[in-house]
Amino acid sequence: MTNDPSGPAIETSGLVKVFGETRAVDGVDLVVPRGTVYGVLGPNGAGKTTTVKMLATLLRPDGGEARIFGKDVVHDANDVRSLVSLTGQYASVDEDLTGTENLVLLGRLLGHRPAAARVRAAQLLEAFGLADAAAKQVKNYSGGMRRRIDIAASILNTPDLLFLDEPTTGLDPRSRNQVWDIVRVVVAQGTTVLLTTQYLDEADQLASRIAVIDHGKVIAEGTKGELKASVGAGSVHLRLRDAAQRAEAVALLETALAGAQVQLEPDPVALTARVGDGDGGTAHAGGHGGGRGAAAQAAAALAELARADITVDNFSLGQPSLDEVFLALTDRPAGAETQEAAA
Ligand SMILES: Nc1ncnc2c1ncn2[C@@H]1O[C@H](COP(=O)(O)OP(=O)(O)OP(=O)(O)O)[C@@H](O)[C@H]1O
Ligand SMILES: [Mg+2]
Repeated sequence: MTNDPSGPAIETSGLVKVFGETRAVDGVDLVVPRGTVYGVLGPNGAGKTTTVKMLATLLRPDGGEARIFGKDVVHDANDVRSLVSLTGQYASVDEDLTGTENLVLLGRLLGHRPAAARVRAAQLLEAFGLADAAAKQVKNYSGGMRRRIDIAASILNTPDLLFLDEPTTGLDPRSRNQVWDIVRVVVAQGTTVLLTTQYLDEADQLASRIAVIDHGKVIAEGTKGELKASVGAGSVHLRLRDAAQRAEAVALLETALAGAQVQLEPDPVALTARVGDGDGGTAHAGGHGGGRGAAAQAAAALAELARADITVDNFSLGQPSLDEVFLALTDRPAGAETQEAAA
């Protein structure tokens, strides 16, 4: 079968992986367009790593099919392996070697001549902000530096498809930003990236499309805008002057916003309310007609609060965050274990 140059980078249908009693991946259908970052978002145990391992030919599916650039992950496994690279808990860098030594060694293993391997290593260390650490042993790297050298090692040969399995878990905000910049560079060079994450803001920052998975199933899929729109037209965030007025404010908002769900924030003066699209139905993906309705509703609600002498110090109306999307889809925040009550 020829590789349709405009076909998707990844296409799966009904993908299944079972471990004993656990259906870790339970009928996953995905279409990942070429040249983009595709986010697979889900909490612990959702089936992200298992899915990635099947797509990277490290695990054999128990059901369904998956094609990478048209190649079947089971029947054309060798072809698939030549197209993909994986960064995750499988990093192959050696702790006792320096950054340069690691990349040169791996480059040599990939068949680069010594001089070419050194040039490529230096290039990547520079591009990933590791030039100053090039001569240090990797065991002395910080978590962020370690993650960056892992990604550098996985793109020594520019892969057509790169899997990044939770590339920023456990990193501080600055290191996360550096990894995000690297992902943007990799994609700009033409590589398709499938990124798994538990962080909604990470998917929001990087991915053009997102699949939300939970218990081995895709529970939502679309562009960021579509996912957000599916939850409602917008979110109103309020901060009151007086925490004692919060209960009264909630009651007023629920009435003024026609049955909107009002959430109490940990901060005793803060409130969040989801605003519907004005006709009581779910907002339609792509249709932004709800925007003006949301603003008008929010303005009316503010007027009600003012009439009741409730002082609002701070107000904003925005699209719902991906966190709110996850909450709406699963009734629990992303990252919370199924059995735990939402905090
Ligand atoms: N080798 C295995 N043997 C048995 N069960 C497994 C195995 N690998 C994964 N599982 C189970 O399959 C389910 C999905 O696991 P997976 O590692 O794919 O989740 P994940 O979304 O990557 O989670 P995390 O965010 O914690 O990395 C979990 O219930 C897990 O315990
Ligand atoms: Mg995982």
